[in-house]
Amino acid sequence: MGLKRNSLHTIDDLRGAARRRIPRLAFDYLDGGAGNEENLRRNRKGFEAVTLRPEYLRDVSDRSQKVTLFGHTYDAPIGVSPVGLANFIWPGTDGALAAMAARRNIPYILSSVGTTTIETIADIAPDHAWFQVLLPDRHEICFDLIRRAREAEMKVLVMTVDIPVPSKRLRDLRNNFMLPFKLEPGVLWGIAARPAWALATLRAGTPKFANLLPYLEPGTGTRSLGAAQASQVSANVGEDVIKRMRDAWPGPFVLKGVLSARTAEAARRLGADGIIVSNHGGRQVESGPSTIEALPEIVSAVGGDMTVMLDSGIRSGGDIVKAYALGARFTFSGRCFVYATGALGPAGGEHALNLLTDEADRTLAQIGATGMEELGADNIWAID
Ligand SMILES: Cc1cc2nc3c(=O)[nH]c(=O)nc-3n(C[C@H](O)[C@H](O)[C@H](O)COP(=O)(O)O)c2cc1C
Repeated sequence: MGLKRNSLHTIDDLRGAARRRIPRLAFDYLDGGAGNEENLRRNRKGFEAVTLRPEYLRDVSDRSQKVTLFGHTYDAPIGVSPVGLANFIWPGTDGALAAMAARRNIPYILSSVGTTTIETIADIAPDHAWFQVLLPDRHEICFDLIRRAREAEMKVLVMTVDIPVPSKRLRDLRNNFMLPFKLEPGVLWGIAARPAWALATLRAGTPKFANLLPYLEPGTGTRSLGAAQASQVSANVGEDVIKRMRDAWPGPFVLKGVLSARTAEAARRLGADGIIVSNHGGRQVESGPSTIEALPEIVSAVGGDMTVMLDSGIRSGGDIVKAYALGARFTFSGRCFVYATGALGPAGGEHALNLLTDEADRTLAQIGATGMEELGADNIWAID
């Protein structure tokens, strides 16, 4: 494996190791955000601005991180967010993270622009796989994906609403990220400098949008990542189509990418069972709020009626505890787990989960708490 897990003590250590182990084109795709990356930085500042309230003289010897969500009791308070093109970061990432999720009893959300099929992931993680869709202009693609996810018995449908148009990702533009991958001299040079990644990728073959292959028009040719994304989303995601999705899905239905009380109230009106407060990991709105800032107004608007979850910017177990204390009922992360596979290969995801749950456990004990579901405003000292 090259790297020793016992030298990687934090998610930031995993990020640094991934940067050294995978080509720049791949690292920048994973690490980067929209525009000048103000929102990406703000996600971190948002968590850093929250101070927890330490409490002692309590018996905290019996601690648990179990959380019940949509009728399933998970063993840890965080799941894997949907990450498109994850197998480009390290071959086998999707399948390995889904298997880890099943083994460790946490949810795994497969992206519709993921690099492994719905059917494969449902086989790997039959009780833990959720499916995330986008709405392209050709609505029938989305509804066929929903049908496939339903037939594969995926547990929860997640509709991502925060991509009316692709964002401007400067790192991908500057690296000339093209799909299918174009092996220009700069890209080749980056790959040559990362032999373990190059060999693994050569063996596995170029990652593809596995779920979308049946719907792609032949001879699309090479295009920029932004152009590929533009064909996968619609600038008109109206209430009618969300209602049709709701009706097409018998299980829990979640809208992801909610950042205001107004959008959360619309989600409730349209019959969603839950929302994920998310800014796509700082990848969509350059100057939007961090999710931890947006969370309280959303919880007070709809928290009594729907399951409010959160992702974007979580980098430690302490961050997870902060999100729960501010009203989140579950959390997710994309980069924590995918930095880990970039750093350590397919087995890395489990190391990331171990770091996060160990840190969350220490944090719970220090604030006098024994479980996630008891966290609340009492555990907050201040928000700067
Ligand atoms: C490389 C990458 C690809 C992503 N692809 C998708 C996607 O296909 N669908 C989606 O809803 N969100 C996608 N996201 C957003 C994640 O689901 C999640 O909201 C985000 O990673 C959370 O922030 P974090 O990475 O700071 O934990 C992607 C994020 C990254 C980093």
